[in-house]
Amino acid sequence: MISRSRCFFSRNSSVLSALRLNKISQKCMTPVRSSQFNYKSFFSSRSYSNIGGGVRSESSVATLATKAAPIANAGKSSPTISSNAVGWWLIGTSGLVFGIVVLGGLTRLTESGLSITEWKPVTGTIPPLNQAEWELEFAKYKDSPEFKQLNSHITLDEFKFIFSMEWGHRLVGRTIGVLFVLPALYFWTSRKLSTHVKWKVVGLTGLLGLQGAIGWWMVKSGLDEEQLAERKSKPTVSQYRLTTHLGAAFLMYLGVLWTGFEILNENKWKKAPEQAQKLFAQLNNPALNRLRGIATALLGLTFLTAMSGGMVAGLDAGLIYNTFPHMGDDWIPSTGELMSPVFARLSDESDKWWRNLLENPTTVQLVHRVLATSTFFSVLGLHMYAVRHKAIIPKTAQSMVHTMMGFVSLQVALGITTLIYLVPIPLAAAHQAGALALLTTVLAFCSRLKKPRQATLQLIRTMAKK
Ligand code: HEM
Repeated sequence: MISRSRCFFSRNSSVLSALRLNKISQKCMTPVRSSQFNYKSFFSSRSYSNIGGGVRSESSVATLATKAAPIANAGKSSPTISSNAVGWWLIGTSGLVFGIVVLGGLTRLTESGLSITEWKPVTGTIPPLNQAEWELEFAKYKDSPEFKQLNSHITLDEFKFIFSMEWGHRLVGRTIGVLFVLPALYFWTSRKLSTHVKWKVVGLTGLLGLQGAIGWWMVKSGLDEEQLAERKSKPTVSQYRLTTHLGAAFLMYLGVLWTGFEILNENKWKKAPEQAQKLFAQLNNPALNRLRGIATALLGLTFLTAMSGGMVAGLDAGLIYNTFPHMGDDWIPSTGELMSPVFARLSDESDKWWRNLLENPTTVQLVHRVLATSTFFSVLGLHMYAVRHKAIIPKTAQSMVHTMMGFVSLQVALGITTLIYLVPIPLAAAHQAGALALLTTVLAFCSRLKKPRQATLQLIRTMAKK
């Protein structure tokens, strides 16, 4: 047996009929992005004297103007704010990415990741369907270094299990691709995406495609005997490639979540523009700039800690020094062990320090402990700062600080127990999911402190004036 193993401009009918009845000039109907709408030239143009069939006060024209522009927008160009449905689609995608990260972790932990020795993006969707096809896949696996060096004892039934784990992980990856690209095309063609979000969606689609390629690049590092010999490694994937794959998945997760949060926030502000104005005034307080900087730095630190966790996982460095807070008999191992010349590849040993930091399991584990401890105390410090300065912090952001504190404590507890109990699969998978949950709370905190975009600010201000 394998051992580890919708429309703001809700088509205001009165405005529409005013536009139709008064044949508003072609100039007014020129599609404009409301973010770029030039009210000055609109008012100075003669066309507006036709609106309503007579002379109107500038303010009533202004009201019509603000309504007319988005209607023109709705027909021909991108809206200022993407629809709520887009926001929910992105949040849903983040849920799927969360799921595949956990599934990917389980695939690694059950040592199933090297069971499919080919990359067939389309035909690989179909698994072996009969005994002969299973035998053929098993024969291909038998030619891999993992089978030869570690798994020569496994049976076809055991192979079916590891194959199904890896095939399931790849299938969920393809499904996320389809569930991202098809709605993206629909939202794009039905003009539900703001220009600003369109570019993000293009970037995220690219990242998704790249992730598939990184996945295969990672797997290849565990199948290539020459590379394994060069790394002096048993048949496992390179820790660098595993961490790149984990990092790209985390970036995809954070990207869709950040964009989703932004769209849902903007739609919430559109529903209650006066209330939003008060929040904007609070967010504009210069005293919040410092906290915003701290929050961004914390997001970076948490991400870095997670990536160093990927390095620990990639080197199986959780299987040594299974004590906390001590590492063995002392707080930290000796310098000789942490900076061993064994890891240097250049004759002058000039690569010794960085190779030890990235390739020596003892040093890699220590780096993860140091970063994790720094992340914990940074969240604690932020929590204390937020409690002391709560008068200036928006309520929604305040509540997220408490959630963050809870998740970082849970994450540290999961990390320690994963280590002490020698990386049992349920704890290690929970620790990986915990890293994403913690990053979610830090990202949500950053999002709740974020000032609105200029175009959104203008739109909400105009709506509040109505
Ligand atoms: C803010 C705190 C922490 C974060 C964000 C974090 C994040 C991570 C991540 C993302 C992984 C990779 C999981 C995988 O790919 O399977 C990992 C692995 C690991 N972490 Fe942490 N970690 C934290 C704290 C700790 C602490 C305090 C310890 C204990 C000293 C610890 C011990 C481990 C171990 C042993 C692994 C390897 C598990 C495996 O082989 O699957 N972590 N961590």
